[in-house]
Amino acid sequence: MHDPAPILTANGPGSPESSGHVELRSDTFTLPTPAMLEAASRAPLGDDVYGEDPTVTRLEALAADLLGKEAGCLMPSGTMANLTALLAHCPRGGKAIVGHESDIYVYEAGGASLCGGIVYDALPNQRDGTIDLADIEEACTVDRSDPQIAPPAVISLETPQNRCGGLPLQLDYLAEVGQLARRHGVGLHLDGARLFNAAVALGVTPAEIGHYADTIQVCLSKGLSAPIGSVLVGDRKLIAHARRMRKMLGGGMRQSGMIAACGIIALTEMTDRLAEDHENATRLARGLSRLPGVRLDPGPPVTNMVFFRIRDDRYTTRSFIAAAARRGVRVEELGRGRIRAVTHAYVGREAIDRAIAIFADLLASGPRGAEFPARHESATMPPR
Ligand SMILES: Cc1ncc(COP(=O)(O)O)c(C=O)c1O
Repeated sequence: MHDPAPILTANGPGSPESSGHVELRSDTFTLPTPAMLEAASRAPLGDDVYGEDPTVTRLEALAADLLGKEAGCLMPSGTMANLTALLAHCPRGGKAIVGHESDIYVYEAGGASLCGGIVYDALPNQRDGTIDLADIEEACTVDRSDPQIAPPAVISLETPQNRCGGLPLQLDYLAEVGQLARRHGVGLHLDGARLFNAAVALGVTPAEIGHYADTIQVCLSKGLSAPIGSVLVGDRKLIAHARRMRKMLGGGMRQSGMIAACGIIALTEMTDRLAEDHENATRLARGLSRLPGVRLDPGPPVTNMVFFRIRDDRYTTRSFIAAAARRGVRVEELGRGRIRAVTHAYVGREAIDRAIAIFADLLASGPRGAEFPARHESATMPPR
């Protein structure tokens, strides 16, 4: 086996920083750490479809324990973890109550409808990422004996809520939705792709967040730097069902201990450092808020995501993003003319300061040559 460490150290060849650009599009660009690659190369392995990969079993138990649940199941992705959860909670023709800005609804290819015959009931997310309790109550209050009605079977919340500024849901809100779900006999699923960021931001344990939900999915491959994987946790019965759904979707993996070994490092060594990413997000937001032509939206970050708009007639959102990319800072548009910048382990303080300086220069000097908006782009993007 070759020695992987030199390829993938934070500033080594192949890393986002080594290529000279500041990668702020997503924390999914993080690379596995040398400790992960070392652990993957030494992990005891077996066939996990037979339930015989000891490293996978260890990771699943660890994740379940951290989140206060009975069982866990390693999934290839957050998308599959969310989908298997909805399939486990909801029968065909049942209703999944989701936020209209949730990843499940916006970015997961309608999987629950396609694979499970499930109806999405997409309720408005508020600016803080919550769904109004009255709206959830109304969506749950149906006459189950009426054959016209798709009966609600699961509520899905997301924390932190990505498209609402990466804001974590408060524990008292989760408690209220949990009570409401129980009262109506529906399940509560939590898309906790970045749940450890939420825990750090709220100063609580992951289990305190997980307490109110029946199933939770956490991603290993975002700010925690593992290359692949999510874990779905819940009670034994739901997880056994989700495991069957995973196999049906083609997600049963064999020697997946190689992935799980990285996941164990992610959960044991990479969660505390997320506070650093949050500090860097605050630093970036402070720098941006001093620039004319920048407006933070919704406001200062709470986790590792900074959302902002460009209010400068010389740029459209798209032309600003393209100009920044040409100068070595990568950000992306995340709906309705907002730009998202995500901090992570490969963006240190120096890189943040470099990004601020480049944004400042773009706004001070205006577009040059190719940086002018294309003729068909209006300078102020229409709302979507
Ligand atoms: C909130 C949220 N949930 C789920 C996912 C899906 O995860 P994956 O990309 O592993 O399928 C993402 C991906 O970015 C996400 O941001």
